[in-house]
Amino acid sequence: MKPVRLGFIGLGHISTHAHLPGLAPLIEAGEVVLRAFCDVSEENVKKQAEVFKPGAVYTDHRAMLEKEGLDAVYVCIPPTLHTDEVLTTVEKGVAVFVEKPQTLDLAQAVRFDAAVRKAGVVSQVGFMSRYYPSSEKVRDLLRERTPRHAQVQLFYGGKPIRYWTSRYELCGGSFVENTIHMVDLLRYFLGDITLASAFYVARRPGEGPEPMNLPHVYNVSYRFASGATANCTTSRVLTNVNASRREVVIVSDDSLIEWSGQKVVENGKTVYEAAERPNPFALQARAFVEAVRAGDPGRMRSSYANGMNSLAAVLGANASAERGGQVVALDDLIAGKVTWTPPRGDGSPRNP
Ligand SMILES: NC(=O)c1ccc[n+]([C@@H]2O[C@H](COP(=O)([O-])OP(=O)(O)OC[C@H]3O[C@@H](n4cnc5c(N)ncnc54)[C@H](O)[C@@H]3O)[C@@H](O)[C@H]2O)c1
Repeated sequence: MKPVRLGFIGLGHISTHAHLPGLAPLIEAGEVVLRAFCDVSEENVKKQAEVFKPGAVYTDHRAMLEKEGLDAVYVCIPPTLHTDEVLTTVEKGVAVFVEKPQTLDLAQAVRFDAAVRKAGVVSQVGFMSRYYPSSEKVRDLLRERTPRHAQVQLFYGGKPIRYWTSRYELCGGSFVENTIHMVDLLRYFLGDITLASAFYVARRPGEGPEPMNLPHVYNVSYRFASGATANCTTSRVLTNVNASRREVVIVSDDSLIEWSGQKVVENGKTVYEAAERPNPFALQARAFVEAVRAGDPGRMRSSYANGMNSLAAVLGANASAERGGQVVALDDLIAGKVTWTPPRGDGSPRNP
């Protein structure tokens, strides 16, 4: 079997701590070969190359795509820094894995989506929560139930570890940067989202650690195409205590399902429990590599096209919160009739 030839654009936290370790068993088995790394930081790309031993290193993705015969590329760069990495990749007929949030510029995402569709290549957005076996169990259960409502509660703890993830104008806020995973998971369970309405609690200067300007709280309501509703509440206030909370609950007729990465509980009874702690990054990597080998874009659970509704849902929450909670239709957002762009000035949300 010919190994899948991989390239990486962006060798930061997620590539080196999650994707490359997740790919390690496939590399060891000879199913994948790390052909090339590209990072705009020469110092960083050389440092990571010493650890992961790719065939070549670059500081320019175009040169990498030109010179290396790649089958697939992981694009793992901060969301405001996308230029033509995804476009150049897919226009060369190379499969693309792109980290969430795909970009903070929805008009750019629309262009990338069109290019990925035109190229007909395998694509995957890094929504790895769909790859937990527990997520599959919930999907199975919901095939015979009618979900009416879902609830996500995410109270993040700790300080952001990178400058850009502590700044609203650079990461879009915690709801966009982090809660997008759970919003996407709700879509995996309940289908597409049509409407969003949100209220945020603003962080004033001096409230919380510098240089953070993220809202304290994000309170978001969604309507799904099915008619079901969801509330997603996120807080970013717990910075100095060892406390956090993650809850995903789905209510159907006579069924209260609680999801976690390890376990699924229905009406108080455990109906699934993982034998060992699953690594969703590794499961997602295997699925991606198999889809690339098969040349089958339909195999991935979060293609670029599929991920558009999740991206619109979180950017739509920002658009609504900055308009005093006004209901935002995600179709209007994708069509550019309503817009959200990262704020200028001090970078904080406008009128949250
Ligand atoms: N799936 C998850 O759970 C998860 C977790 C963390 C981050 N992420 C996402 O992964 C993406 C990257 O985040 P990160 O934490 O790795 O960021 P990071 O800041 O740690 O690393 C980003 C790297 O990209 C490089 N870079 C920037 N622009 C580049 C370009 N044009 N070409 C080549 N290299 C470039 C930077 O030099 C840096 O090394 C973000 O979209 C983030 O939201 C996902």
